Amino acid sequence: MNQKIFCSKIGFALAASAFMPTLGHAEHLTDADIQAAELRAETVVKAMQPDEKTVLTHGIMAIPFLAGGPVMPSDAVPGAGYIAGIPRLGVPALKETDASLGVAYAAGLRKDKATALPSGLAMASSWNPALIEQGGRMIGSEARAKGYNVMLAGGVNLMRDPRNGRNFEYLGEDPLLAGVLVGHSIRGIQSNGIISTIKHLALNGQETGRHFADSQISEENARESDLLAFQIGLEIGKPGSVMCAYNRVNGQQACANDWLLNKVLKDDWKYKGFVMSDWGAVPNLEAAMRGLDQQSGEQLDSEVFFGNKLAAAAARAPAWASRLDDMNVRILTAIFASGLDKHLAKSGGVLDFDANANVAEEVAKQGIVLLKNEHGALPLEPNSKSILVVGGLATAGVMSGAGSSQVIGEGGPAASIPTGGTGPSAMFQNIVYHRSSPFAAIEKLAKGAKVRFRSGRSVSEAVAEAKKSDVVIVFGNQWSGEGFDQPDLHLPDGQDALIEAVASVNANTIVVLQTGGPILMPWSKKSAAIVQAWYPGIRGGEAIASILFGETNPSGKLPISFPASIEQLPRPRLDGFDWLEPDFIGRAPSGAKPLAINYNIEGSDIGYRWNARKNHKALFPFGHGLSYTGFESTGLKIEGLQASFTVRNIGDRAGATVAQLYLTRTPNGPQHRLAAFERVTLKPGESRLVTLAIEARVIAEYKKDSWVIDAGTYHFALGENAEALATAMPVKLSRRKFKP
Ligand code: BGC
Repeated sequence: MNQKIFCSKIGFALAASAFMPTLGHAEHLTDADIQAAELRAETVVKAMQPDEKTVLTHGIMAIPFLAGGPVMPSDAVPGAGYIAGIPRLGVPALKETDASLGVAYAAGLRKDKATALPSGLAMASSWNPALIEQGGRMIGSEARAKGYNVMLAGGVNLMRDPRNGRNFEYLGEDPLLAGVLVGHSIRGIQSNGIISTIKHLALNGQETGRHFADSQISEENARESDLLAFQIGLEIGKPGSVMCAYNRVNGQQACANDWLLNKVLKDDWKYKGFVMSDWGAVPNLEAAMRGLDQQSGEQLDSEVFFGNKLAAAAARAPAWASRLDDMNVRILTAIFASGLDKHLAKSGGVLDFDANANVAEEVAKQGIVLLKNEHGALPLEPNSKSILVVGGLATAGVMSGAGSSQVIGEGGPAASIPTGGTGPSAMFQNIVYHRSSPFAAIEKLAKGAKVRFRSGRSVSEAVAEAKKSDVVIVFGNQWSGEGFDQPDLHLPDGQDALIEAVASVNANTIVVLQTGGPILMPWSKKSAAIVQAWYPGIRGGEAIASILFGETNPSGKLPISFPASIEQLPRPRLDGFDWLEPDFIGRAPSGAKPLAINYNIEGSDIGYRWNARKNHKALFPFGHGLSYTGFESTGLKIEGLQASFTVRNIGDRAGATVAQLYLTRTPNGPQHRLAAFERVTLKPGESRLVTLAIEARVIAEYKKDSWVIDAGTYHFALGENAEALATAMPVKLSRRKFKP
């Protein structure tokens, strides 16, 4: 696929100026780098003593109190994981930190703070690979400066259920968009000479029963959806490691799944790096034969399988010995390719938090989505006389998602509110607000206006105040996190009633949402404007205010569909939700029924593709996002798999849009798939010829063991979003068959 199409010039200019690569070679790993690293790895493995061969294959969770108190090695940095090195052979220890949104907090053990990017869905809403790469570069530089050399970032599970508690960490529902973006995030991280991960392979679609849920799906459906996102991400990002998932896939634990790890990942995709387990996801020693290379967070498993037990198996049987060598070669290939042995991880690096926060702010600005804007309610006039801000703890800060990806910013949280969980996961059950007050930022940009705040705890107070105000900005927050799913798609804590009441008495009510995923909006018709801010990161307040006052022209587009009702979903009932306790660490409760999740219902038609198949109209469709200017696209031409057309800014403000090209029909019938995209920034009146390469695997079907493009007529249409398409253009394509 032509990756050039995804890199807007603006993004690259930004990316190039802010950071210098620290790799010893070209900024991105090439296949030649990986090949050279593999050769070196083979030589080193030959020099290993038998007892050295199980050093790299397992390691601890570097959080002692959580796991029965292993002795922390003197060189370990508190964090998600630690794998000892082999100094005799110049092999460094692996020091692992979560994750995709920044250097995580490690359950409070690490006292130094880090820069929090906006959530994955906010990043994905930018549809800007270069910006996401810059974000990756920024968080990777912080990981390095704090002494880590592996980031457990790269979450790319597709949103199969809007209630999934970890949707906020991931990049949406489309395999092309999510795959391209995760690839660029990984590239950015690895440009610091550290390893990044892609996770959680695969089909880890919900948190409920995550340790034993069985994702059932046909090979064709998996290859055309979740696996395609991983495949594209691996091609672009070339991560040193892949993290397998907690759940089962078609009956076999993902971390011991021969088909997934050996066949798909290593044979078909020719992956040369290593597979690390998720924490507490290794069922047995046999997992090694099924493709797992490293047991992570071993205290969380029932046994350390990949230590003495593995060594004994290798001493006994040649097949195990050669598998063990392969495990070592793979781990060392990743270490050498990223140069971990050359530039050793050292803590105490100096960080420019201000510059890094600027990156996070830019991501938030490009990721905030203007969902609705009636009668030009936004941007706000700086001279509105009275603005009432309601709810969302907006005077304190902005919301963030919880779990292993939790980042704590400089100065600590603005608020950390316990929700009252019990057991070991209780420490992850605090609602953390970053220090970036939307209220303060609004006040700053509102200049002459009188800006007041009401908490929203009393609806009647908010209503009384709303009546006296020119404009009401009401926040709706939905907290989510790892280890639990949303019970439904309503805003919690009576916020729907609050918004409804306020919007009923003030026609200029602007709703700002900070949510982990899609929600229902029973009050949407009453509101004048709706701004989807996701979890907007360490400068989220500033980014929100900047959009509200038009200092930034909104350009975010939804990377997911917002359903109009729960009945539109392939599974209106979330499997297991009615009988399972939320459990972060948990295994199947004794006597638990198997938790089969039938992903063949929607198959590869996730989100907007499902809606198209079922004729559902979303509340807000995939790809939707308004601007303060207007754009038009004309002159679509398609030759083979190349599309070109002109995009013009027809309004009076500079702004950016995302050109979206959809496949609408194949010779076999209607289809609905994003085939190519590019973010385009234009001055008023400016136009640009855009050329997009259509991703062949998106228009192909996976049949038996290959991708197949059947001969015949294919239809493509440009779309403002997945439901607003221009007239489709027919193109004849000849038959093509290619290997995965
Ligand atoms: C999560 C992973 C994370 C790991 C280490 C697991 O519970 O699923 O995403 O990287 O913990 O913290």
